[in-house]
Amino acid sequence: MTNQLVIKQIETKPFEGQKPGTSGLRKRVVEFEKGLYLHNFVQSIFNVLGSDKLKGSTLVVGGDGRYFNSQALQIIFAIAAANGVGKILVGQDGLLSTPALSAVVRARKALGAIILTASHNPGGKHGDFGIKYNVSNGGPAPEAFTNKIFDETKKISVIHMADNVRVADLSKLGTTEWTGFQVEVIDSVEEYWQLMQTVFDMKQIKELVARKGFVFNFDAMSGVTGVYAQRIFEKELGVAKDCLINCVPSEDFNGGHPDPNLTYAPELVKKMNAGLFDVGCASDGDGDRNMVLGKRFFVNPSDSVAVIAANWDAIPYFRAAGGLKGLARSMPTSAALDLVATRAMVPFFEVPTGWKFFGNLMDTDQLSICGEESFGTGSDHIREKDGIWAILCWLQILAHHNKDTTKELVSIESIVHNHWRKYGRNYYSRYDYEEVDTKLGDEVMKQIADTIATKSLVGRKFTGSDGVEYEIASVDDFEYKDPVDHSVSSHQGLRIRFKDGSRIIFRLSGTGSTGATIRLYFDKYEQRESHLFDDTQKHLSTLINIALELSNLQKITGRNEPNVIT
Ligand code: G6P
Ligand code: ZN
Repeated sequence: MTNQLVIKQIETKPFEGQKPGTSGLRKRVVEFEKGLYLHNFVQSIFNVLGSDKLKGSTLVVGGDGRYFNSQALQIIFAIAAANGVGKILVGQDGLLSTPALSAVVRARKALGAIILTASHNPGGKHGDFGIKYNVSNGGPAPEAFTNKIFDETKKISVIHMADNVRVADLSKLGTTEWTGFQVEVIDSVEEYWQLMQTVFDMKQIKELVARKGFVFNFDAMSGVTGVYAQRIFEKELGVAKDCLINCVPSEDFNGGHPDPNLTYAPELVKKMNAGLFDVGCASDGDGDRNMVLGKRFFVNPSDSVAVIAANWDAIPYFRAAGGLKGLARSMPTSAALDLVATRAMVPFFEVPTGWKFFGNLMDTDQLSICGEESFGTGSDHIREKDGIWAILCWLQILAHHNKDTTKELVSIESIVHNHWRKYGRNYYSRYDYEEVDTKLGDEVMKQIADTIATKSLVGRKFTGSDGVEYEIASVDDFEYKDPVDHSVSSHQGLRIRFKDGSRIIFRLSGTGSTGATIRLYFDKYEQRESHLFDDTQKHLSTLINIALELSNLQKITGRNEPNVIT
């Protein structure tokens, strides 16, 4: 005899500001803990989906294990049950990385997924929490959908919730049932690992890992990928246990900031700079971002996607697909990938920031590999960016270039250097000014937008300390028309383009939870052999000065230095 669901209708009132950003709704934990705050948002998702779609449907639910995950899961189960969902698949201990969740949605043909994460933002009682809805292709809901959720949050008045739905032990695999509703706890890694085996030649990677003297280190930053690393890197590929750092997921990421970049992964960066290992990688809280380091060498994410794309034939998945269907990057990402697309003669797309924009291109077979400057790299094997996948790509590429184990190791650095020799190099950097007063952030953007609108900048020339002249060729406010559904996304970043192809971009981040984060991006192409190996900041100094001068950023915000430089 199964349990009958006891369903209650709970009266509620809208909360202000439940508008999903670049990647779902992200707020401080204290916001989510306010009364029915989370309930409202979850019910709003279900209101948009509607009872016909929900009836008997399967949803995948999981998160990165941050504080409030466990409470949130039980609330979601209870609301889902009362809204007609038939089955919920949840990761063991509530854990599912964002890419694994995408893989499970696709493998199980689920209606969609709810993912509980604030990605790379700090967690814990005083940190951030987040919730995001993914649709049936396994990718983030498109803007039209998230706008509808927002509309629902503004008029919500009732929550349907089962009174007797609770899964006692999320650490045990298996199914708990009620009449017409069940929750199945699944292994967090298994289905993802199955998929990875169809993408890579694991035997070849295993041989690389076993190579005498070769050392690979991985830092999970106390996020969800610790679980994936233990299974995939250690158990399946033979990486030594002590080469896996911070691989126990923690509710507050051990007090850290789980963002794999040069600032927030200091432990790994220090060891790599000391030349201790051949490869050092890290992933963020929910496992969709990645950072790849060689011995004393940082692989810029924009270069990373370009090198992976240029080496597609090292990876069985792309060989089986008969090569590349197309390549894409977000607008502020460096143009290194464009050069690979041109040479490979495959279609190329420039989309706004946000992984959701790649989905339509993948669903219509126009896109194989894509990436963003924000440490996101992925392919059409799923519909999210994928940290572990990107790391496996690099290991596979390394293995491919090191088939002859008697020769000295062809390093990550030499693979990237050879890439630059072949294609030229895009010097690239991003400056972040975090937690700027929202009004001041808007003022900086307005100042640039106004100047851009007059077009008076076009033709203006600047001469750098190196004597190089930069002439502004065009200025605009980036707008994207989706070639598949024809939806238009406006105001996606202010662009200044120079005659030599260099670019300066100004954008406000869509993922912060307090104040405004102003991002400045610099991209400069260099082909001269004698200048391929300059210091990045030095090489970009003229562009950086131009950006600061035109935006008046320092004067308006009072900030002399960015918080983070990538
Ligand atoms: C998330 C999104 C990415 C985006 C990044 C930075 O990771 O999934 O698509 O590039 O945030 O976004 P932001 O709006 O903060 O620059
Ligand atoms: Zn993330």
